[in-house]
Amino acid sequence: MMQKDVGIKVFAPAKINLYLHITGRREDGYHCLDSVFLFTGLADELVMTPADEMRLVIDGPTSGALAGEAVDDNLVLRAVRLMGEAMGVSQKLDIRLTKNIPVAAGVGGGSADAAAAMQGCATLWQNKEQDHRLSSNRMIELAEHLGADVPPCLDGKPVRVEGIGEELSSVGAAPDWGILLANPNVAMPTPAVFKAYKNSGLPFSAALEDGPFWTDVNWLRTVARNDLEATALALQPEIKMVIDALAALPGARLARMSGSGATCFALFGSPEEALAAHADFVKKHPRWWSWAGATFE
Ligand code: C5P
Repeated sequence: MMQKDVGIKVFAPAKINLYLHITGRREDGYHCLDSVFLFTGLADELVMTPADEMRLVIDGPTSGALAGEAVDDNLVLRAVRLMGEAMGVSQKLDIRLTKNIPVAAGVGGGSADAAAAMQGCATLWQNKEQDHRLSSNRMIELAEHLGADVPPCLDGKPVRVEGIGEELSSVGAAPDWGILLANPNVAMPTPAVFKAYKNSGLPFSAALEDGPFWTDVNWLRTVARNDLEATALALQPEIKMVIDALAALPGARLARMSGSGATCFALFGSPEEALAAHADFVKKHPRWWSWAGATFE
């Protein structure tokens, strides 16, 4: 009897941008960033199993319009095809993606899914044939093809991101912060926010020559910011209400929008403080999507 192929489970954690400075624009229209990505305990899950046919089925609390069988251009399927080509492997996979991260919400859900799919393929296929092993630089190069935010999502560790997302530097471990995420349940497509930012004519930020003091909440609050926040607020004023509600929570040390929005985050001294604040927050704001917990382990 043939042994049935076993699947693997990969986690795709949501990111927050502790700060996001826009330092310029490239000729191709992409914006140059300086940002630190921090990964949260909120994660999508991918179960990847070798199969006769390629298939991706999406479910989970935030799957919404994506629920059901995915179409070919889904970023996860593109990631698998790209890895297959790069590694010279033609194996098909049956993938179940359980979405817990809100979609088009500034917390990198789609990019995290693509990065996790790449890591899943690497794990499945490297085990089969050691010669197929890809270097981490090659993984970053491949991830860039899938989207500017995919390379920083490959490791799930705090990372400073420059260029349009491909220049990565390790920044060490995160403090044991608690995180509360909230958004007003509206999708904010990233290209629309960058376009509105460009049209606003806001000046670019200077580069952080000394590097970010990203574990210092006081520095994050007073020196760093999210340059897309004003633009996103103009497009969707309810984001301001979310930030104000987060800032007013007992124990909140910083409240800021993540990425191109609409999700905002508050940082707390510990996960317990975030969970305690969340219990009241959901009662006060039942129409908003929200989550509280720790950083990604
Ligand atoms: O690469 P990705 O698909 O994530 O980007 C979506 C869109 O967001 C791009 O087409 C571009 O308009 C904008 N963008 C940008 N600068 C970045 C990342 C994204 O202008 N660094």
